[in-house]
Amino acid sequence: MFDKKIEIPIGSDHGGYELKQYLIEKLTQDGYILVDMGTHDLSSVDYPDFIHPVAKRINDGKNKFGIIMCGSGQGASMTANKYPQVRAALLWDVEQAKLTRQHNNANIISLPGRFIDFDKAVDIVKAFLNEDFEGGRHIQRINKISQLLN
Ligand code: RB5
Repeated sequence: MFDKKIEIPIGSDHGGYELKQYLIEKLTQDGYILVDMGTHDLSSVDYPDFIHPVAKRINDGKNKFGIIMCGSGQGASMTANKYPQVRAALLWDVEQAKLTRQHNNANIISLPGRFIDFDKAVDIVKAFLNEDFEGGRHIQRINKISQLLN
Protein backbone atom coordinates (compact mmCIF):
# COMPACT_ATOMS: atom_id res chain seq x y z
CA MET A 1 0.00 0.00 0.00
CA PHE A 2 1.39 3.39 -0.99
CA ASP A 3 2.18 5.68 1.94
CA LYS A 4 0.12 8.78 1.16
CA LYS A 5 2.52 10.96 3.18
CA ILE A 6 5.11 10.55 0.39
CA GLU A 7 5.15 13.58 -1.94
CA ILE A 8 4.57 13.02 -5.66
CA PRO A 9 5.84 15.65 -8.14
CA ILE A 10 3.55 16.20 -11.13
CA GLY A 11 4.30 18.19 -14.30
CA SER A 12 2.86 18.82 -17.73
CA ASP A 13 2.84 21.15 -20.73
CA HIS A 14 -0.33 22.85 -22.01
CA GLY A 15 -1.44 19.58 -23.68
CA GLY A 16 -1.55 17.86 -20.31
CA TYR A 17 -2.55 20.86 -18.22
CA GLU A 18 -6.25 20.05 -17.82
CA LEU A 19 -5.54 16.45 -16.90
CA LYS A 20 -2.87 17.59 -14.43
CA GLN A 21 -5.34 19.92 -12.70
CA TYR A 22 -7.94 17.13 -12.58
CA LEU A 23 -5.47 14.65 -11.09
CA ILE A 24 -4.31 17.16 -8.48
CA GLU A 25 -7.93 17.83 -7.45
CA LYS A 26 -9.04 14.19 -7.28
CA LEU A 27 -5.89 12.72 -5.76
CA THR A 28 -5.60 15.51 -3.17
CA GLN A 29 -9.22 14.84 -2.15
CA ASP A 30 -8.17 11.22 -1.63
CA GLY A 31 -5.26 12.18 0.65
CA TYR A 32 -2.31 12.05 -1.75
CA ILE A 33 0.26 14.87 -1.67
CA LEU A 34 1.01 16.25 -5.12
CA VAL A 35 3.79 18.78 -5.78
CA ASP A 36 2.78 20.88 -8.80
CA MET A 37 5.84 21.56 -11.00
CA GLY A 38 3.79 23.44 -13.63
CA THR A 39 2.78 24.44 -16.22
CA HIS A 40 0.24 26.74 -14.62
CA ASP A 41 -2.10 27.64 -17.49
CA LEU A 42 -3.02 26.70 -21.06
CA SER A 43 -0.41 28.93 -22.77
CA SER A 44 1.72 27.05 -25.28
CA VAL A 45 5.02 25.93 -23.71
CA ASP A 46 7.82 23.44 -24.40
CA TYR A 47 7.10 20.16 -22.57
CA PRO A 48 10.75 19.44 -21.58
CA ASP A 49 10.77 22.59 -19.42
CA PHE A 50 8.18 21.00 -17.11
CA ILE A 51 9.17 17.35 -17.40
CA HIS A 52 12.89 17.71 -16.59
CA PRO A 53 12.21 19.02 -13.06
CA VAL A 54 10.01 16.00 -12.24
CA ALA A 55 12.45 13.50 -13.78
CA LYS A 56 15.43 15.07 -11.99
CA ARG A 57 13.73 14.64 -8.62
CA ILE A 58 13.21 10.93 -9.30
CA ASN A 59 16.72 10.51 -10.71
CA ASP A 60 18.24 12.19 -7.63
CA GLY A 61 16.19 10.03 -5.26
CA LYS A 62 14.35 13.03 -3.85
CA ASN A 63 10.99 11.43 -4.66
CA LYS A 64 10.04 7.80 -5.27
CA PHE A 65 7.41 8.34 -8.01
CA GLY A 66 6.45 11.11 -10.42
CA ILE A 67 3.56 11.87 -12.77
CA ILE A 68 4.06 13.59 -16.12
CA MET A 69 1.84 14.31 -19.09
CA CYS A 70 1.66 16.13 -22.39
CA GLY A 71 -0.87 15.88 -25.22
CA SER A 72 0.21 12.42 -26.33
CA GLY A 73 2.37 11.41 -23.36
CA GLN A 74 5.16 10.64 -25.81
CA GLY A 75 7.36 13.74 -25.55
CA ALA A 76 7.02 13.64 -21.77
CA SER A 77 8.15 10.00 -21.53
CA MET A 78 11.00 10.54 -24.03
CA THR A 79 12.30 13.43 -21.94
CA ALA A 80 12.05 11.63 -18.60
CA ASN A 81 13.69 8.47 -19.92
CA LYS A 82 16.91 10.39 -20.65
CA TYR A 83 17.68 10.13 -16.92
CA PRO A 84 19.54 6.93 -16.01
CA GLN A 85 17.55 6.22 -12.85
CA VAL A 86 14.18 6.94 -14.46
CA ARG A 87 11.88 4.31 -15.94
CA ALA A 88 8.91 6.26 -17.29
CA ALA A 89 5.96 4.28 -18.64
CA LEU A 90 3.38 5.70 -21.04
CA LEU A 91 0.07 4.38 -19.70
CA TRP A 92 -3.56 4.27 -20.83
CA ASP A 93 -4.84 1.17 -19.00
CA VAL A 94 -5.05 -0.01 -15.37
CA GLU A 95 -3.65 -3.50 -16.01
CA GLN A 96 -0.74 -1.97 -17.90
CA ALA A 97 -0.07 0.29 -14.91
CA LYS A 98 0.12 -2.71 -12.55
CA LEU A 99 2.33 -4.68 -14.94
CA THR A 100 4.86 -1.90 -15.40
CA ARG A 101 5.30 -1.71 -11.63
CA GLN A 102 5.50 -5.50 -11.23
CA HIS A 103 7.90 -6.12 -14.13
CA ASN A 104 9.69 -2.85 -14.97
CA ASN A 105 9.79 -1.18 -11.56
CA ALA A 106 8.61 1.94 -13.40
CA ASN A 107 8.95 5.08 -11.31
CA ILE A 108 7.27 7.69 -13.51
CA ILE A 109 3.77 7.57 -14.99
CA SER A 110 3.41 9.32 -18.35
CA LEU A 111 -0.16 10.03 -19.47
CA PRO A 112 -1.66 11.22 -22.79
CA GLY A 113 -3.68 14.24 -21.69
CA ARG A 114 -5.55 14.56 -25.00
CA PHE A 115 -6.31 10.85 -25.42
CA ILE A 116 -7.50 9.53 -22.08
CA ASP A 117 -10.64 9.66 -19.96
CA PHE A 118 -9.70 11.72 -16.88
CA ASP A 119 -11.37 9.37 -14.36
CA LYS A 120 -9.57 6.44 -15.94
CA ALA A 121 -6.32 8.35 -15.49
CA VAL A 122 -7.08 8.67 -11.76
CA ASP A 123 -7.58 4.89 -11.56
CA ILE A 124 -4.34 4.31 -13.47
CA VAL A 125 -2.34 6.50 -11.08
CA LYS A 126 -3.78 4.78 -7.99
CA ALA A 127 -3.15 1.32 -9.45
CA PHE A 128 0.43 2.25 -10.30
CA LEU A 129 1.23 3.77 -6.90
CA ASN A 130 -0.17 0.81 -4.99
CA GLU A 131 1.54 -1.98 -6.94
CA ASP A 132 4.93 -3.46 -5.95
CA PHE A 133 7.91 -4.54 -8.06
CA GLU A 134 8.14 -8.34 -8.22
CA GLY A 135 11.96 -8.43 -8.33
CA GLY A 136 13.38 -11.88 -9.19
CA ARG A 137 14.05 -12.39 -12.90
CA HIS A 138 13.00 -8.80 -13.60
CA ILE A 139 15.97 -7.32 -11.75
CA GLN A 140 18.55 -8.38 -14.34
CA ARG A 141 16.22 -7.28 -17.12
CA ILE A 142 15.84 -3.73 -15.87
CA ASN A 143 19.60 -3.59 -15.16
CA LYS A 144 20.21 -4.43 -18.84
CA ILE A 145 18.16 -1.41 -19.99
CA SER A 146 21.16 0.89 -19.44
CA GLN A 147 23.74 -1.52 -20.96
CA LEU A 148 24.01 0.19 -24.33
CA LEU A 149 25.65 -1.56 -27.32
CA ASN A 150 28.70 0.13 -28.87
C1 RB5 B 1 1.79 20.00 -27.80
O1 RB5 B 1 1.01 20.46 -28.85
C2 RB5 B 1 2.16 18.54 -27.99
O2 RB5 B 1 3.06 18.40 -29.04
C3 RB5 B 1 2.71 17.96 -26.71
O3 RB5 B 1 1.77 18.12 -25.69
C4 RB5 B 1 3.05 16.49 -26.71
O4 RB5 B 1 1.99 15.71 -27.20
C5 RB5 B 1 4.36 16.12 -27.28
O5 RB5 B 1 4.78 14.95 -27.28
